[in-house]
Amino acid sequence: MEKRLRIAINTGGGDAPGLNAVIEAVVMAAYNRSWEVYGIKSSYTGLLNTDEIIRLTPETVSHISITGGTILGTTNRGNPFQMPVTNMAGEVEIRDVSDKVVENFNRLRFDCLIAVGGDGSLGIAHSLYKKGIPVVGVPKTIDNDICETVVTFGFDTAVSIATEAIDRLHSTAKSHERVMVVEVMGRHSGWIALNSGLSGAAHIILIPEIPFDIDKICGHIMECEVRGRRYAIVVVAEGATPIGGRAVEKGKGEVGRQHAVLGGIGEYLAKEIAKQTGKETRSLVLGHLQRGGTPTTFDRLIALRFGAAAVRIVGEQKFGTMVALAHPDIKAVPLENIIGRIKTVPVHSDKISTAREIGICVGD
Ligand code: F6P
Repeated sequence: MEKRLRIAINTGGGDAPGLNAVIEAVVMAAYNRSWEVYGIKSSYTGLLNTDEIIRLTPETVSHISITGGTILGTTNRGNPFQMPVTNMAGEVEIRDVSDKVVENFNRLRFDCLIAVGGDGSLGIAHSLYKKGIPVVGVPKTIDNDICETVVTFGFDTAVSIATEAIDRLHSTAKSHERVMVVEVMGRHSGWIALNSGLSGAAHIILIPEIPFDIDKICGHIMECEVRGRRYAIVVVAEGATPIGGRAVEKGKGEVGRQHAVLGGIGEYLAKEIAKQTGKETRSLVLGHLQRGGTPTTFDRLIALRFGAAAVRIVGEQKFGTMVALAHPDIKAVPLENIIGRIKTVPVHSDKISTAREIGICVGD
């Protein structure tokens, strides 16, 4: 008789629309094999403080695939290899508490962990795999920057939200003859900026992969003005930089956080554009609006397929892997193939050529 497996599942890093769809698919696919699924709260911290681990059943996950967020909660600060801990002197120090995670995992008699996360959380999953935990990863991020998979869920929703925002800005920008600068997410890669900027007919798209020249941007705005289009929409990824410059940071963020908090490049650009062109310029940051709410049907479908595939891969005992879309199929790729790598927008790609050919300035 096949062993009745006990699967643990967690969600880590920033949330992305589709996380609940993954959870629903994992629970249903496991249930249909008579396996049990346990939800770990708040990324890996739920394997340190195990009080809140919950049994997930078809009833608990019924139709959650249409909802945003994650029923398991998540955090960007739950790295057990670098956990902020308050010592006896009341000072915060960073400690490696990963042995405790492994100990609790074994004590709870889990057979494997399905870790749903971005590059940071999947890196932790890989390190835990090397310490003996059988892991299957599921890639998640609205930024779409994970290698080896055509796409991650959450990305399509974020692009749809950003595109709708850009669509709406056209009429107000045109009425006031203003320049509107929209800052979208994308730390290291410009997928959201490029896809939404193209779809929303932005006039200038700035991405981290192509450092921008502010003089070229202002020149483009003024050229269009002379030709009769007296407004402009600029879409900028939060990680975009001027040539020779650095990404604008809002701060380091909370203790134990894996990345600095980016933000402010839109406002910087708006000031420079206003100064150089004399045009009234406004900026706005779409921020977490891009991560919230219902996943699109595309994201729901990818997330459901990823969840079911993760359970299939557990059945095949292919641990230390991540599910990935290799159109038209889902396959398992070694986690080590994606660690420390970022899927950036290829500068010489069809999408960049399309932007240039239809008259969009990409800042160079
Ligand atoms: O998940 C990626 C991301 O959306 C980045 O684009 C962004 O920089 C980051 O998350 C923001 O994270 P937080 O919500 O923790 O500030």
